[in-house]
Amino acid sequence: MSIILDAIETKKSGGTLSEEIIRGVVEGYTAGTIPDYQMSALLMAIFIRGMDYAETLALTRAMTESGERYSFPDCVDKHSTGGVGDKVSLTSLPIVAACGAPVAKLSGRGLGTTGGTIDKLEAIPEFSVVLFREQFERQVEEVGLAIIEAGDLDPADKAIYALRDATGMVDSLPLIGSSIVSKKAATGAGYLLYDVKRGSGAFMKTVEEARELADLLVRLSGDLGVRAAALISDMDNPLGSAIGNALEVRESVRLLKGEEVPADLAETARRVAVRLLELKGVEDPEAAVERAISSGAAFEKLREFVRAQGGDPTALEDLPVSDAVREVTAPRGGYVAGVRALGIGHAALALGAGREAKGDRIDPGAGVEILAKAGDRVEEGEPVARLYGERDVGRAGTLVLEAFDLSGEPVEPPPVILDGL
Ligand code: URA
Repeated sequence: MSIILDAIETKKSGGTLSEEIIRGVVEGYTAGTIPDYQMSALLMAIFIRGMDYAETLALTRAMTESGERYSFPDCVDKHSTGGVGDKVSLTSLPIVAACGAPVAKLSGRGLGTTGGTIDKLEAIPEFSVVLFREQFERQVEEVGLAIIEAGDLDPADKAIYALRDATGMVDSLPLIGSSIVSKKAATGAGYLLYDVKRGSGAFMKTVEEARELADLLVRLSGDLGVRAAALISDMDNPLGSAIGNALEVRESVRLLKGEEVPADLAETARRVAVRLLELKGVEDPEAAVERAISSGAAFEKLREFVRAQGGDPTALEDLPVSDAVREVTAPRGGYVAGVRALGIGHAALALGAGREAKGDRIDPGAGVEILAKAGDRVEEGEPVARLYGERDVGRAGTLVLEAFDLSGEPVEPPPVILDGL
């Protein structure tokens, strides 16, 4: 019997796959000798039967080793499971780099309502997200911060993820865990923080599900030699006020300059930076983070990083956004009980800030600016959001209005960091 048929038969009947079979399947599928229809059958069996920890670790290891690998044992990196308005990489990483913890990051583009750091960086004129390996390594050494597009790293995950996406098999815990950790292990940073999002705008809808994923990510990383920790953060509401590529870079610049930004963003960026510095063994990380922001060092690190990757740091002072702007106003007075992240993500997508399908062209200046956050009081007719962009403005306006949940009673803003491990 072929290795793939053996694997399908074993999983179909609830058995356990050996490390040798898992490696053979990953190698065969990546090389193209196992066809999509057989791999889909195996993924479906895994989806239904699950995988134990040893199988999940074997899958993660085989995917990590499926292509090129980097090694940055002194560097820190972070991974977010994706959310609306999530600019934590753009804010926390210049801070930690300014505190002396070097960052080597390979990142992706957004799909659907999940933003991608690479798209955000490309909103900066002339910024290049592609560097040769030697340039990338030199920049990490000299600037202490480099972020490029993930490219051909982990080809097994690229192929398997595309198949899972096309066959409705993304939401399986062992498949998500192995997919995320294999990419991070192939990037090779020695210290890693997972920001696992929970809520309507995230993969994981409950804190319990998010904790289960966080546990798995930290355990797999540890077994692959990476010191890892996780935070669980809220994604019922968009993070900060800006959703959309250039808008998010602008808001990140404000935070790094020590200017006022919404409290949920300020807290998340700081907590992620502090936890990364703790992992790295930096003393008094809270004070280091505050100093990096108040001294201007964190913003200067962002400028240095942008310059090193071909971008124009002066553009950060006033990054262009769409000049087609429309306000959305409150239909009645009340307290904002919540702003549904998923609805705002779909509105930003309608305006052109993201892609419905891989390869769609995005408008870097499009997006949504939230003017009233959970807990705020608004009066009838008061602007609660601004829409930027020229694509489906009518639909975006309806989606934004539907996303605002207004209450007659005062509302406490929800906590943003829900747990940590
Ligand atoms: N993000 C990933 O990289 N992989 C998954 O499977 C899900 C989210």
